[in-house]
Amino acid sequence: MNTIIEPFKIKSVEPIYFTTPEERIRILEEAFYNPFLIAAKDVLIDLLTDSGTSAMSSHQWAGIMEGDESYAGSESFFHFEKTVKEITGMTYIIPTHQGRAAEKILFSITGGKGKFIVSNTLFDTTRANIEFSGAEGIDLLCAEGKLPEIPAPFKGNMDIDALKKVISEKGAANIPLCIITVTNNSGGGQPVSMQNIKEVKKVCTEHNIPLFIDACRFAENCYFIKLREKGYSDKSVREIAKELFSYADGSTMSAKKDAFANIGGFLALHNIELAEQCRNLLIITEGFPTYGGLAGRDLEAISIGLNEVMEEHYLQYRIRSIEYITEKLVAAGVPVMQPAGGHAVYLDAKKFLPHIPVDQYPGQALVGALYIEGGIRGVEIGSLMFGKYDSTKKLIPAQMELVRLAVPRRVYTQSHIDYVTEVIIEVFKKRNRIKGLQIIEESPMLRHFTAKLKSIQ
Ligand code: F0G
Repeated sequence: MNTIIEPFKIKSVEPIYFTTPEERIRILEEAFYNPFLIAAKDVLIDLLTDSGTSAMSSHQWAGIMEGDESYAGSESFFHFEKTVKEITGMTYIIPTHQGRAAEKILFSITGGKGKFIVSNTLFDTTRANIEFSGAEGIDLLCAEGKLPEIPAPFKGNMDIDALKKVISEKGAANIPLCIITVTNNSGGGQPVSMQNIKEVKKVCTEHNIPLFIDACRFAENCYFIKLREKGYSDKSVREIAKELFSYADGSTMSAKKDAFANIGGFLALHNIELAEQCRNLLIITEGFPTYGGLAGRDLEAISIGLNEVMEEHYLQYRIRSIEYITEKLVAAGVPVMQPAGGHAVYLDAKKFLPHIPVDQYPGQALVGALYIEGGIRGVEIGSLMFGKYDSTKKLIPAQMELVRLAVPRRVYTQSHIDYVTEVIIEVFKKRNRIKGLQIIEESPMLRHFTAKLKSIQ
């Protein structure tokens, strides 16, 4: 038997509302070519994000009913704390309302002017929280990670030589922490190897720099380690996760990804002084340390989801469904990040639309074309998201111009996935007709969420 089936049955369904291409042209114009400004009801297949969009299981919904809503010392908190401790081995577990709240607390305390945070690749909210504190974020992705179409098993790895160089240039005392994002979301959902994490840990230890894990997609990363790294094929994902976290001094997580929750996150730490400082800030910004911005029911849903995500039938189906889209696109000649990432397909917009220069945002133009063709909503991960301006207001482009189609967990079926590949291939056939975009309004930080654009005729 070759078919890998969805390891679940569907108990409750949500309708999808259909629109015509003509309607979508108008909707896109009214949304200023920004998918974040399109109403969800006007989207057929929503691949904007895999964050907070998962289908919860019947066990999670049962947990929602069992949530203990006590302000202090809730049973649901103790369940949550026990689960996170079992998986991460961390000592202090601090719940937050989502990942960026954990980042905000962590970097408000450890960041600041003159400090540098090093990473394989920082996610946009992580970078923004670092920069907001006055510190600087430095991405040190391995060379193969920057070549979208060259396959390699662990394209999320950090460049160890570059790490050593940055430490000697900036001084270890100015680097409060190193954070590895697993899987590397902004770099194609690519995994980081255990070997790489061990090597980064060794360098960090030599210089007394704490190592953190941005664990949003830890289970997907651990499953890739099981599939691709020597010595791990017989280990369970739980065992692999335990080893991965054993090298870390702390972790941030958005439970909206691999915990199948619609909201939530945490900060997990070993250092008691740091944990105390974080809890003090948590009380001001999030809430009391046994709920941290969440309802008891959310804590229950997260605890249950964290265990479900490590089930290997689920991970096999999850990783295969993304690989399946990638294979079909490669066969049709569509330029796509290879190998497939864990949670999303990444189209290489620079190659897809070579006639659109980077300062006309080819990624965003492709996002618009996919929406008009098939009502699919994706997101640009390129110069609109990461571009900066030099002193003459000339765009300093991002390293890559990607379009991410992130697949919500347990939400879409095989025929939805087939439809998505058909739409992408159709757009590829018509790619010469796609036009570049110009920004007409933008905010100084995280501009991609609210920027308004117009088509260049
Ligand atoms: N770190 C990574 C690697 C992420 O992908 C995200 C969120 C965060 C941190 C922040 O977590 O949203 O709970 O505050 N990524 C979402 C995405 C938004 O679409 O990839 P959050």
